[in-house]
This record gives sequence, structure tokens and C-alpha cells, in this order.
Amino acid sequence: MANKQLTQAKKAKKDEFYTQLEDIEAELKHYKKHFEGKTVLCNCDDPRMSHFFYYFVLNFHLLGLKKLITTCYKNQDPDLFSVSATEQAVYLVYEGEDIGMPPNPNIAGLVHPLKGDGDFRSEECIEFLKEADIVVTNPPFSLFREYVAQLMEYQKKFIIIGNINAVTYKEIFPFVQSEQIWLGPSIHSGDREFEIPSSYPLEAASSRTDSDGRKFIRMKGVRWFTNLDFPQRHEELILYKKYKPEDYPYFDNYAAINVGKTADIPCDYDEAMGVPITYLDKHNPEQFEILDANNLIIENRAPKKPHGLIKDKDGCINGQAVYARILIRKRK
Ligand SMILES: C[S@@+](CC[C@H](N)C(=O)[O-])C[C@H]1O[C@@H](n2cnc3c(N)ncnc32)[C@H](O)[C@@H]1O
Repeated sequence: MANKQLTQAKKAKKDEFYTQLEDIEAELKHYKKHFEGKTVLCNCDDPRMSHFFYYFVLNFHLLGLKKLITTCYKNQDPDLFSVSATEQAVYLVYEGEDIGMPPNPNIAGLVHPLKGDGDFRSEECIEFLKEADIVVTNPPFSLFREYVAQLMEYQKKFIIIGNINAVTYKEIFPFVQSEQIWLGPSIHSGDREFEIPSSYPLEAASSRTDSDGRKFIRMKGVRWFTNLDFPQRHEELILYKKYKPEDYPYFDNYAAINVGKTADIPCDYDEAMGVPITYLDKHNPEQFEILDANNLIIENRAPKKPHGLIKDKDGCINGQAVYARILIRKRK
């Protein structure tokens, strides 16, 4: 249900979903060594309300940060829960000063107006991007493709939160396949809660309002996307199933077998295998390589696809469509 609302939100460009501090902490604790002496940019974050801002101020000295920059997009929803929300796009540069607890950038006079609307693609925001070493945020779902394209163009390190389905986008999968983007370690399943403006329509099952009247929605399929390394990424996936042809049928149009569950990847099979997208939660680049499905099409039976996955009607087994699959092969 929450996914349906996410799709509707995407269509309506309702992008106000606020990441919870505990989700930020659970992910960022895996990257501590990367932050020493670095400038962090949160470029979809109103410093007056973002938990990313809050996290980096709280941990500024612990992480040994050099600078924190946050920029916010002009507020599209004036009835937002933050009392300080205005239509004005702003930026903040924080360098470790004492701004109280909880941090209050307004009082310290650290918040300044932007010339434009704070769009991450605007010239002034790109200048901040160029200055940054690591970008950390929850970007707008409706602009995820463009957001990632910009990070890659400027060769930035990043930790951003999004939906696992983004892996199947033609603009994203080639980066996953070439090991330029991977999934973070803290979320591999389940839902996550995001705070939303009170004006967003909600279905009861996936939402709640707390005693202060703040609204939250639960979303499925949430993942962190990053290009910063962490130790769990190099842990070997333990496999125990033996290959038996009857258990692993071939795709009609691709020279690969189908594996229904990541845990069923056969330990003794050396050729291409189609695995669920959620395999990426366990992917170790030293154990398996991710393949471009276009290179495994049998005798022009399927057209080349811009994304490089097995999906849609060409990805069938005995004429029956299966869920989208990523192709992998054991490294020698
Ligand atoms: C999913 S929300 C996350 C907000 C915040 N990063 C957090 O996690 O709490 C995405 C934010 O991006 C902002 N946004 C929308 N379009 C934008 C754009 N073109 N440039 C920069 N920010 C944008 C929205 O206003 C929204 O606050």
C-alpha cells in the first residue's frame, strides 16, 4: 500500500518524505573512517528540519569533519510541520561551532538565503557540490535518476536513500553492473518510516500520527545507495545448494539459469545465473561478477535493452514471465 502511495507521490511530485534519525545513524556508523577531514553536502535538506543536518552536527567532531553544507529546495508545501518552514530556499555552512542542543542554526545565524530556488541542478548548488567530498541525503524520489546522474558526472562519493526498484532503471543499473554503485549495509528488508507533511493523504494501514500530531508513513523497498566501501560488502555469501538441472531452468531467450531465491544460488555452478534484485543486498564483488544481460541473449531472440537486466516479456521461462532478474557469474 505504501508503495502505491509512493508511486502516486512520484507522479504528483510530492517529495516531502523525511528520513528518521535512527535510520541515518544505523547506516552512517558503517562509514566513519571515510569522513575524517571531509566536507559533507546534504543538498536536499532544509537545515531547520533535516535529520541529516542534525546527525552531522551531533557527530561533527567525532567524525572529524571539515565542513557541513546543507541546501534546501524552496518549500513546496507551506503547511509543513516545521514552524520555521518558509518559501525561501536557504543554505547553511557549519564548521563545528556550538549551536546548542538540539542544534539551532537559526539562532546562530548560520542560515542564509540562496539566490535561486535551491534546485540541486542550479548553478549555485552545483558550486556547493563541486566543493563537497561526500554527499549524504534522501533526494526527491521523482528526480532520483537525474540526481544520481549528477553525482556520477561530478564524480562524488555519496550515501543516499531511495527505493530498490531504482536498480532496474536504465540510468542506474549500468552503474550497479560496473560496481560504481552498490547497496548500503543497514537495510536489507522490511519497511521504514518517514515523516510527511500533514497535508499528504494517507491510508490507515501504512501510516500513523504520533501524540504531537506528526504524520508518518511506512515504505517498503527502501535501500541506501552508495559508492563508499564498508567491510560487510566483502563478506562471502555462504552457499550450500548443489546444481541440479531440474531445479534451475534456463531462460527462453538468455543463456542463463533462473535462481528463484538468493539463498538457492548453487555453489557449484560456474555459468550465468539470473537472480532476484534483492541479491544485491548480499553481493560481494570478489565472489560474483554482475553481467550485462545483453551479452547473453541467445541468437537475437530478444532485443538489446538499455538497462542490461532480464525483465519484461522477453525474460520468460517456457513462455512464463518471471520477475526482473540480475545476471551474475561466479568469479574464477
Ligand atoms: C524525500 S525528501 C527528503 C528530505 C530530507 N533529505 C530528509 O531526508 O529528511 C526530498 C527533498 O528534496 C526536496 N527537493 C525536491 N525537488 C528538489 C530539487 N529539484 N532540488 C533539491 N531538492 C529538491 C524536497 O523539497 C524534499 O524536501
